[in-house]
Amino acid sequence: MLVDRNSELIRQAEETVAAYRDIVNQDKYRLHFHLMPPVGLLNDPNGFIQWKGKYHLFYQWNPFKTGHGAKFWGHYSSSNLVDWQEEKIALAPSEWFDKNGCYSGSAVDDGGVLKLLYTGNVKDGAGNRETYQCLAESLNGIDFHKKGVVLRLPEGYTAHFRDPKVWEHDGKWFMVIGAQSEKLEGRAVLFTSNNLEEWTLIGDVAGTNKNGLENFGYMWECPDLFSLGDKDILLVSPQGLKCEGMQFQNVYNTGYFIGKLDYKTGTLDHGDFTELDRGFEFYAPQTTIDTKGRRLVIGWMGVPEQEEDKHPTIAHHWIHAMTLPRELVLKNGHIYQQPIKELQELRKNEVLIEGIKIETEELQISQLEGSTYELQMHVTELETSLLEISLKDSVRLTYNRKDQVFTLERISLSTGKPEVRQCQLSKLNKLQVFVDTSAIEIFINDGQEVFTARIFPEVENKKISLKAADGHVKCSLQKWDLIK
Ligand code: FRU
Repeated sequence: MLVDRNSELIRQAEETVAAYRDIVNQDKYRLHFHLMPPVGLLNDPNGFIQWKGKYHLFYQWNPFKTGHGAKFWGHYSSSNLVDWQEEKIALAPSEWFDKNGCYSGSAVDDGGVLKLLYTGNVKDGAGNRETYQCLAESLNGIDFHKKGVVLRLPEGYTAHFRDPKVWEHDGKWFMVIGAQSEKLEGRAVLFTSNNLEEWTLIGDVAGTNKNGLENFGYMWECPDLFSLGDKDILLVSPQGLKCEGMQFQNVYNTGYFIGKLDYKTGTLDHGDFTELDRGFEFYAPQTTIDTKGRRLVIGWMGVPEQEEDKHPTIAHHWIHAMTLPRELVLKNGHIYQQPIKELQELRKNEVLIEGIKIETEELQISQLEGSTYELQMHVTELETSLLEISLKDSVRLTYNRKDQVFTLERISLSTGKPEVRQCQLSKLNKLQVFVDTSAIEIFINDGQEVFTARIFPEVENKKISLKAADGHVKCSLQKWDLIK
C-alpha cells in the first residue's frame, strides 16, 4: 500500500508515544501542573492563540528522542489555560520545504480559519541550511492542511531566518522574523501582507548595529512584537550576548525592548534590553492576546545547548516543559509578569499564618510543607541583612538587604554543586512561588522580577525552612497545595 510521507511520520510518532508513554508517566519528576511533552523533547511554544473560545498551544516537538532534530508541532488545547487536552499532531516534517523540521511560528484567525505561519527548515546533503516560511490552515482547529511556501529568503540575510510571528494591524497582516544579516548580526525583520500569502519586506525592526544598539548577538530567535499600554514591545531571544554582571548568565537569553514601531519603515525606536526572566531555564517565549484583552505569555522552560543532556528525565524518555501562562503588564517602563488568575482553580488546602516573626534560629513550619504547591509571603518588616528560605533541601531563595540582591540557588545539573542566578532588587515586599515536582517559578513583588528553573529534589523531601541571618523579618505566609 502506498502511504504518504506525512501519514507515515505521524504514525511513527504515535507509535513512539504509545511505546514510551507509561515510562514517562512513571517518572517521579513528571510535572503536575506544568505542560510537558507526552514523550520526547519539547521546546518553543508555537501558535499560541485563543480561537473560537478555546486556547491552543502548539509546541516544537521531537517525539523520537530527547534531543533536537526534525521538529513536529505538537498540540494542546484548553478552555481555561489550566486543564490542557492533548490533541492530534498538527504538523509533521514531511515535505521538501520542511523536511528537517517544522520550526517555530505563530497562529492567526483569518476570517474564521485558523492559520499557522511557520518555518520550514531544510538541510541539503552537505548540511547547508535553507529556510522557507510556510502556511498551514485548519477549519476545525485540529486538522491542518499545508499550503506550502509563502516567503523565501530575501537578500541580505543568511539562512538563519525563522520563527514568524504574525498579527493584524489597521486591516493588514504584519510578520516579524528572527534573522541574521550577512554580516552575522542578529536582526528582527518586518514584513506585511494583505492575504498571508504574498509578503513584502518593510525593513529591520532592530538588531546588532541598528538604532544605537551595538554588538548585540549574531542571531535573534523567536521575535514577538505587540503593543502593551501605549508602547510597542519587541520580545526576542538574541544569541551571542556576553554575561554582564548578573545579566545574561544563561547560554542564550530572552528579553525585551520598549519603544514605538514605525509601521512604514519597520524601525522600532527603542530603549535598553531587559531580561524577562532571571532564572536558569527560560527561552523563546510567545505571547497572544485573549478576549479578556490580556497579553499572555508562555515561555519554554529550557535553554538550547544548556546542559540539556544532564536532565535526569531523559532516563524516562522526556525532557523540558512550558512555564505557567503569565499576564504581561507594563508599569513604569517595566514589564511585570503575573501568573494568570485561573491558576487559583488549582488551590486546595489553604494554610494561612499571619504575623510570623522569622529570627536567627531556623524556622520549620510543618503546615507549610508540600510537594506541589503555591506559597505566598507578604513581608511587613525586613530587619535583617539576609533572609533565607530553603525548599526541599535543594533550592535556596535569599534576599540580601544591604546589597539589594535576590538570589535563587539550586544544585547544578552537571556538577551537583550549588549555582546561582541573581538580580538587583531594591525592596522585597512579596514572594509568590509555584513549586512543581521538578520546576519552580518565583514571582517577586507581583512580577517585577521572575525566576524560572528546573529543580530535581528528592521527591519525599517536603521541607521548608526560614531564617534571618541577624535581626528579624515579619511576614504572613499562605500556602495552597496545587492539585489537579
Ligand atoms: C529556538 C529555536 C527556533 C527554532 C526552533 C527549532 O529554541 O532554535 O529558532 O525555530 O527552536 O526547534
